[in-house]
Amino acid sequence: MSRADLFRTLGDPTRLRIFALCTREELAVGELQEIVGVGQSTVSGHLAQLRTANLVTARRDGQHTRYAAARPEGQERLFDMLVADALPEGDALALARVRAERSAPTPEGLGSDYLPGRSWEALARLLLALLPPLRIADLGVGTGHLTGLLALRARHVIAIDRDEAALARLPAGIERRAGALEDLPLGEREVDLVLISQALHCVEDPIPTLVRCRDALVGGGQIAVLDLAPHPHEWVRHRLGHKHLGFADLGAVLREAGFHDVSCEVVHSDQRAPAFNTVLAMGRK
Ligand SMILES: C[S@@+](CC[C@H](N)C(=O)[O-])C[C@H]1O[C@@H](n2cnc3c(N)ncnc32)[C@H](O)[C@@H]1O
Repeated sequence: MSRADLFRTLGDPTRLRIFALCTREELAVGELQEIVGVGQSTVSGHLAQLRTANLVTARRDGQHTRYAAARPEGQERLFDMLVADALPEGDALALARVRAERSAPTPEGLGSDYLPGRSWEALARLLLALLPPLRIADLGVGTGHLTGLLALRARHVIAIDRDEAALARLPAGIERRAGALEDLPLGEREVDLVLISQALHCVEDPIPTLVRCRDALVGGGQIAVLDLAPHPHEWVRHRLGHKHLGFADLGAVLREAGFHDVSCEVVHSDQRAPAFNTVLAMGRK
């Protein structure tokens, strides 16, 4: 193609814009319409001219035909120069939106157990709303997500962690106590519920910690421990500081620490590797 023909073909501002977009991404007519803001026949007309001039190629992709710019060998610098400032400011954003829409799952791709509006946080908040307002000690707060949820309903939450930065990230209204699970900063009969979620495995000998938890409970108060069932993943020791590769019988551990009405069950089995099993053990003072 002569330079005169090339300039003539790309001399129309909308056609140049469509061509420039096709250098960034392989696009369908509908997507170009959305970005450029012109009708289907206009986009198709420009694409037809660009194809005749061998400036775009077309590829069938399911129900769509996608168009990509062709940069003939030896003319790359000229092409790059032509398209360099051809796109108005909003086009990059509109192109990003089109890419995001393309990768969004279709209703069919959401899976048969998808339910609009269902989320773990919504279910957790529903169940929390059924709890009486308790005084709760949460041992090992991590991201603070669970602690924050508890605080929505509890009468009072005492958050305990050796990581002062983790405590500092907690929402206002939660009492923060920096300290070790091995030397619990809790007095006698301070709380109605002690919660230890995915933290007990970081304690070498859990029994003295659990005995202190029992002392911190009022008579009839409860402990709830979420932890891991036995697993073979040694890497949790050096990467996450775990001292135990899960617990074989958390119920027996709670009984040894003096709790009664003990229950213990696997409440979740992750189907994805590394496929940990989560155990919930409960006991009463
Ligand atoms: C995995 S996170 C807990 C996550 C949180 N409870 C949850 O379920 O989302 C473990 C937390 O326990 C704390 N931790 C671990 N060992 C501890 C110890 N011996 N004394 C005090 N805090 C400890 C860590 O700093 C971390 O914040």
